[in-house]
Amino acid sequence: MIENEFIPDLKLSSIPVGVVSWSAPSNIALVKYWGKKENQIPENQSISFTLDTCKTITKLYFSKRDTSDENYSFEILLDGENKPDFKPKINTFFNRIEAYLPFLKSYHFKIETSNTFPHSSGIASSASGMSALALCLMSVEKLMNPEMSQEYFNKKASFLARLGSGSASRSIEGDLIVWGKHNAIEGSSDLFGIKYPYEVHDNFKNYNDTILLVDKGEKQVSSTVGHNLMHSHPFAKTRFKQAEENITKLKAILKSGDLEAFIALIESEALTLHAMMMTSMPYFILMKPNTLEIINKIWSFRKETGLHISFTLDAGANVHVLYPENETEEIYNFIKTELVAYCQNGHYICDQIGFGAQKL
Ligand code: PMV
Repeated sequence: MIENEFIPDLKLSSIPVGVVSWSAPSNIALVKYWGKKENQIPENQSISFTLDTCKTITKLYFSKRDTSDENYSFEILLDGENKPDFKPKINTFFNRIEAYLPFLKSYHFKIETSNTFPHSSGIASSASGMSALALCLMSVEKLMNPEMSQEYFNKKASFLARLGSGSASRSIEGDLIVWGKHNAIEGSSDLFGIKYPYEVHDNFKNYNDTILLVDKGEKQVSSTVGHNLMHSHPFAKTRFKQAEENITKLKAILKSGDLEAFIALIESEALTLHAMMMTSMPYFILMKPNTLEIINKIWSFRKETGLHISFTLDAGANVHVLYPENETEEIYNFIKTELVAYCQNGHYICDQIGFGAQKL
């Protein structure tokens, strides 16, 4: 499939007013996307667990404008409050997707959005936020073109979401999503995320992700800047190759249910992501002292008990503690008694693998 297939060739019928609403989940990458080419094309393939409780709920009101001009017409509210500071990001997003949604300038949009996780939790809302908005816009297109298939709807929603934020391409469906063309994953594409198409062992069903909120502040270095630093990174080529190989390895692990191999792979991925940050020029560190305290505690507890507790990180200081469903009781007790003390104000979020966005 090439980009042109996302440009609607039908004459879209005109709908004067309406409202659509979606909830879209966040996701946590197991093999990390870090580094991109022009037009939000990833330098390496990534795979993620879709989350369940961490999500964005977006309601999109649209009304036909009397006259359209060169500018987009929209307002955006977070938790009922006007957010003019979000407008430049949405404007950039609209610019990138206008070729695929030719009706954008003909409408005024009111975007009402809210997250189930606190805005200042340090959890990136861009994946769930951009996918929720992309899904709402696809619902508008579907009203104009009711014949559209569900498969095309999801693909194009992921394609559009990617143009807002790369990882958002993995927040349309669940429960495991691959983004980036990979020879061992049939149907995979740089342009959109796909549902992982192979057998997954029961060990990974309902996998838990308890997110420890170590630092709820704004990140010092945005992921856009971080991705760009991979262009001149001395280890970039090796890293991109490693990610590709890790996807192949993970495919075998997901089939066999080998939890030890799973843990080794995802923890290495998390630390490699942060190693790339630390070896960029300029270099930077997003982990905090408590991130390392938690990691060391996890390692000791795992050694003592043999339980399958592990961690991953995104581009921040928070720790995602991952563990299988059948070990929930002991591991959750350990988290509460030993790890929550390292969280800012004792805050953490209990989440697990989820099954994708929902139309409301
Ligand atoms: O989607 P972006 O551009 O915010 O990049 C996110 C990158 C990581 O979260 C660090 C890794 C990933 O694959 O989600």
